Amino acid sequence: MKKEKIIIYGGSFDPPHKAHFELLKGAIKEIKPDRVYVVTGWHSPFKNFSSVSYKDREKMFRLGAREFDLGAMTRLAFHPFECKRKKITYTYQTIDYFSLKHPKAQLFFLMGSDCFNSFNKWKNYKLITEKAVLLVGRREGFLPKNSLNKRGVFLKGAFPEISSTEVKKTLFVEGCGKNIPVAVSVFIRQKKLYLSHMHEWLKLNLGRKRFKHCKETTSLALELADKYGVDVEKTAIAALLHDAARDFKENKLKLWASKNRKNIPFFRDIRDKGPVIVHAYMSAYIAQNKFSIKDKDILNAIKLHTTGSLKMSILAKIIYVSDMAGKDRDMFFASSIRKEAFLDIDKAFCSALRCKVEHMKGKKKWLHPYSEAVYQSLERSL
Ligand SMILES: [Fe+2]
Ligand SMILES: [Fe+2]
Repeated sequence: MKKEKIIIYGGSFDPPHKAHFELLKGAIKEIKPDRVYVVTGWHSPFKNFSSVSYKDREKMFRLGAREFDLGAMTRLAFHPFECKRKKITYTYQTIDYFSLKHPKAQLFFLMGSDCFNSFNKWKNYKLITEKAVLLVGRREGFLPKNSLNKRGVFLKGAFPEISSTEVKKTLFVEGCGKNIPVAVSVFIRQKKLYLSHMHEWLKLNLGRKRFKHCKETTSLALELADKYGVDVEKTAIAALLHDAARDFKENKLKLWASKNRKNIPFFRDIRDKGPVIVHAYMSAYIAQNKFSIKDKDILNAIKLHTTGSLKMSILAKIIYVSDMAGKDRDMFFASSIRKEAFLDIDKAFCSALRCKVEHMKGKKKWLHPYSEAVYQSLERSL
């Protein structure tokens, strides 16, 4: 009797993109399986700052699979094995489960060549190849390592080089994603995933130039977050919202400030000598009250983005620098600070603050005590 052929396709699918569906489609065409199990990975709610839920990630995959018409090609099932366990699940455990469930079937485990290249680092990887055939789709830019070739069966052709991490970054910066099925994009907007609701709000409450500035700030901040190992989503939230209140009229800012004076250090000086600084505090207030952001690091980064402070986290320094040195900035120092930021974020912060302070001093403008304190400490260290 002919063995039943089953493809297992697992992943975080955060979010699922076109390369996921192209790969699965290619595998179905070539292997002609009797059924496919899509196994969406479980995310620990504590692991990431605010990861998209299992339910939403699975729903997005279902929508994409429908758009690619995969259900018409084979028996497609979504299996909650990893989600039900509610703990980190290794692939060998998933394969073990399906080999017990279908002891007479031939199992295929589908992956892209990007994952395949580190396959020998996976936990108990030999147990996987004992029970399933590794089905590998060559992805442009990720040639399979020769040393591992004998462990995999390669699908014909090549599949696009798209990564969920990059798709997610584009969503954070632009508010819409590239390389995502249309139905998935619509779902993301409807469910306010990947900060799309923040983009919508900013678009309504900021002028065009300011909105572009927030996106450029986010773009640079995310590159720096990558470089310095800072949480990508936290960084995107702080960068997107840092100027949320920047285009409000001065009267509105002053009214809000007088009601919230307890939360604004040096309130009187700010009100009388530098009212524009209020926007930083009000932007943090919007993050907290409109978007339910509770993370202190994010809120502080927003509050300190105009003044700086002697006590700043890496995230706060990234936001300060990105605000001043994003690609929308045409001041002469912006590009050199941008370059410096990738070499040493502390030095870039000092350069950015020094530029700002000297500009203020040159114009004989009032200097916030936080900025003055950082500037004085820089002068002493020279
Ligand atoms: Fe600002
Ligand atoms: Fe800004």
